[in-house]
Amino acid sequence: MTTPVYFPAQFMEHTPHAVFMQRCLQLADLGAGYTAPNPLVGAILVHDGRIIGEGYHGIYGGPHAEVNCIQSVKSADRVLIPSSTLYVSLEPCCHYGKTPPCTELILGEKIKKTVIGCRDPFPLVDGKGIEKLRTQGVAVEFPVLEDLAKEKNHRFFTFHLNKRPYIILKWAESANHKIAAEQGKRTGISNAWSNRLVHKWRTEEAGILIGTNTAMLDNPQLTARLWTGKNPVRIVVDHQLRLPVSLNIFDGTAPTIILNGKKDSLSGDLIFKKIPLERPDPASILSALHSLQIMSLLVEGGAKLLQSFINAGSWDEIRILTNQELLLPGGIPSPQLGNAQFVKSETYGPDQVSYYRNPKMLFP
Ligand SMILES: NC(=O)c1ccc[n+]([C@@H]2O[C@H](COP(=O)([O-])OP(=O)(O)OC[C@H]3O[C@@H](n4cnc5c(N)ncnc54)[C@H](OP(=O)(O)O)[C@@H]3O)[C@@H](O)[C@H]2O)c1
Repeated sequence: MTTPVYFPAQFMEHTPHAVFMQRCLQLADLGAGYTAPNPLVGAILVHDGRIIGEGYHGIYGGPHAEVNCIQSVKSADRVLIPSSTLYVSLEPCCHYGKTPPCTELILGEKIKKTVIGCRDPFPLVDGKGIEKLRTQGVAVEFPVLEDLAKEKNHRFFTFHLNKRPYIILKWAESANHKIAAEQGKRTGISNAWSNRLVHKWRTEEAGILIGTNTAMLDNPQLTARLWTGKNPVRIVVDHQLRLPVSLNIFDGTAPTIILNGKKDSLSGDLIFKKIPLERPDPASILSALHSLQIMSLLVEGGAKLLQSFINAGSWDEIRILTNQELLLPGGIPSPQLGNAQFVKSETYGPDQVSYYRNPKMLFP
């Protein structure tokens, strides 16, 4: 490859492939919160070191990154497409899903070289996209920045390889580690800044889960009204179907899944999913949500539900908001962390946000 004309000097120590793949990964991020259960994907077309097209997968069911990339090429540059290299952060699809196969598009545009970040674990692709391109004479360089490309789609990889949603447990607590003042009393713990952060997190996940008591006692809305983005699907465990329909989670502002022991049915935005067990455990909850295509899950309490996930080892991340100025004598104790690895903390006024990861729960 000739030295790229538009190659920034500070990147010269890296290979051009890595730098162009880095751009694909940046573009992929622009779809965050909108593509589930599809992955985040970015693509660029490079001709003689110049990027002539860029695209990303922007919304579930919408055109894939490769399509948007090729469509973005200016008419004067279209003649360059067959002699350009297509960089894409995830293996191109080769099956008919909501859109036609991207491998057909690449072949149709007569592109002769592609560089791919990582393989797609989705069973209908899983290496077949690369094979199809190679057998049709397209040179495929693969993998490039594989770990970063997989990390970008850790929710998607967890969903397909571990057959469950990616799980983030979250709670707010006082300085003396209490999640509520007392049973039955809604307690404001986090401040306006950290509340906004939580709403941002809500836009990033496919679903948000709470226990029966939290739905009944706190009557939360579980929407992302303090941030710009998509509301997650609201999910509540209500085994005996004892929650009143007057609760906010049944108000129709976002779809709601009711995991229960009695029925499977659909009524407008309410999805009743039966878990045929005496008592739903995390494994059965996750298997039900996997079947409903919920790719990632923010579990927002209460203590019993959160603890059941920790005890089962069924979690990937924990995020705790601690109000360092609030003491709640008596009160409901926070869940016990168990084997959690501290990652980092941030400060929002009196609130400290601590991030942990589960050392055992990385996708294979
Ligand atoms: N600070 C925070 O971040 C935060 C967040 C949320 C809630 N809260 C507080 O937490 C309190 C409620 O917490 P909680 O521990 O009493 O109740 P919870 O965890 O919200 O709900 C527990 C109930 O959910 C049902 N359940 C179904 N599957 C379960 C499973 N796998 N594991 C555990 N429970 C399951 C059971 O109800 P059945 O027995 O009827 O089946 C159980 O009694 C409230 O005071 C609320 O204000 C605080």
